[in-house]
Amino acid sequence: MNKIIDLNIQEKVYKSKKSQLSILNNFKLEVYAGEKISIVGESGVGKTTLLNILGLLDVNYNGTYTLFGSLTDDLNASQLAQWRNQKIGFILQESALINSLTIEDNIKLPLLYAKSGEKYKSEDFENITNAIGIKSILKKKPLECSTGEKSRAVFARGVIMKPQLILCDEPTASLDVDNKERIVSLLFKMNQDFNTTIITATHDLEVANRHEKVIHLERRA
Ligand SMILES: Nc1ncnc2c1ncn2[C@@H]1O[C@H](COP(=O)(O)OP(=O)(O)OP(=O)(O)O)[C@@H](O)[C@H]1O
Ligand SMILES: [Mg+2]
Repeated sequence: MNKIIDLNIQEKVYKSKKSQLSILNNFKLEVYAGEKISIVGESGVGKTTLLNILGLLDVNYNGTYTLFGSLTDDLNASQLAQWRNQKIGFILQESALINSLTIEDNIKLPLLYAKSGEKYKSEDFENITNAIGIKSILKKKPLECSTGEKSRAVFARGVIMKPQLILCDEPTASLDVDNKERIVSLLFKMNQDFNTTIITATHDLEVANRHEKVIHLERRA
């Protein structure tokens, strides 16, 4: 089995002028290619922080992280950026769409950053936007869309590069039952078709339990 993630966090500290918060104490995570893992735990426990670390968005913590066989400390800024663009798909709580671009251009944005679009096929765009029911909003701008429509666009942008690893933060939070099902089905289909590794933070236990492994984050003193 191909281990793609080996993370050992001693602690992550958030410091402000008056206080200091230490979370993810002695947290360890090993993930193998193609696994589907969910992360649950009360609000504030550190799920989003963990996804940011896993996605190389936050490198400011005590610990070691081996991703795709490389110690992340050894990667330079351009390698980190390339991996974030090509190997990792982000469907994060804070992912914002660019308001001046259409939904279609927002979804295709990662392709612009990629040096070569070799992995990309226009049928992927068709298939993804069809599967999650957003064909009718492709020419709209984000401000003309509902919250659920925007979250589906964020989802499409996160998977368009067919990344090896998809990190999802509450991907179904603002969706009705049917659209939630579309998102989860597409996510799991990518897992099946491309052996994509999926890590999903969620408060929705029904969604969490559909992953192979559920990790419960707990606050430790
Ligand atoms: N940039 C920051 N500066 C200071 N503290 C922060 C920062 N980001 C997060 N925190 C704190 O770290 C803790 C973990 O936050 P995080 O967003 O990871 O929680 P979460 O488990 O994702 O919560 P939720 O379920 O509400 O999304 C919280 O107590 C939060 O207040
Ligand atoms: Mg969060």
